[in-house]
Amino acid sequence: MSRPRVLVMHPFLEPGPTMLAEAAEVERYPEGMPLEQEAIRRAAEGCSGILSQVKDPIGEQVLSLPGLSVVSNVAVGFENIDVAAATRHGVMVTNTPGVLNETTADFAFTLLLAAARRVPEGDRLVRSGGWTGWEIDQLLGQDPNGATLGVVGFGRIGRSVARRGRGFGMRIIYSDAVRAEAEVERELEARWMELPALLEEADFVSLHVPGGPDTRHLIGSPELARMKPTAGLVNTSRGPVVEEAALVEALRERRSFAAALDVFEHEPQVSRALRELDNVVLAPHIASASERTRARMSEMAATNLLAGLRGERPPNLLNPDVLTRA
Ligand code: GLV
Repeated sequence: MSRPRVLVMHPFLEPGPTMLAEAAEVERYPEGMPLEQEAIRRAAEGCSGILSQVKDPIGEQVLSLPGLSVVSNVAVGFENIDVAAATRHGVMVTNTPGVLNETTADFAFTLLLAAARRVPEGDRLVRSGGWTGWEIDQLLGQDPNGATLGVVGFGRIGRSVARRGRGFGMRIIYSDAVRAEAEVERELEARWMELPALLEEADFVSLHVPGGPDTRHLIGSPELARMKPTAGLVNTSRGPVVEEAALVEALRERRSFAAALDVFEHEPQVSRALRELDNVVLAPHIASASERTRARMSEMAATNLLAGLRGERPPNLLNPDVLTRA
């Protein structure tokens, strides 16, 4: 029996590449080729599976390819894939949930601390050679200990961030369309609130909602205006969740104390206005980037893809309706 062909959009860590090579003919997306649907469709012709990453736009044009049966995204987020179109065309879509929760939560907390205590500013000062010694009022920050942490989106990652907050003596409030089970609220002593009230009460706000049209500009000018001028905003979710121009204004005018961003509205472009501000910590979308977690994501994505190619239900199928459509 001939082996199925799969298109791997980008290099990824072991063990995934070896797992795929054992069971399929692997084609690599040509390096330097634009990440556009038309080009992806051409490259995927004759393939039964695609292994994609967050920057790959996989829409109707790609998903309507005859013979395509599964798209496996090496990420928990999947707003780069038109899942409804995939279901219409009988294509299974999978992601890599769970394995990156703790690593992503570690990084969200790292950003929170870095912004609160102005770590990058201190690093830049020392590196510049311009530091003249201890000063009573140098780089004064905000205390996470004893502060209120507002978690927006109280799913797996949001709850892991809340646990870290508890370890730092923070009070936890959260907002989410779905209220957490009483047991979880008890464990984390977490209080549910509507978003506007949370923004007014929190000293730090950490975003953990999914991307996509429903959460675009969830945090814009009116929301930033509700936040305390001493508050810090952390975004490890998706860039468009925050209206970047509004955030730049709030930070520039010191209406917001600080922000820390791992994701950007027009990734990988980061506006000069944002890059010029001192009171923002910037990271290149690396929240899940530990060696162990990226390897686990690789294994999970390859397992999903191979299951789909065998005609089995992949463990992390996002559109189960695809299995029951006529
Ligand atoms: C990364 O951003 C992911 O969604 O896993």
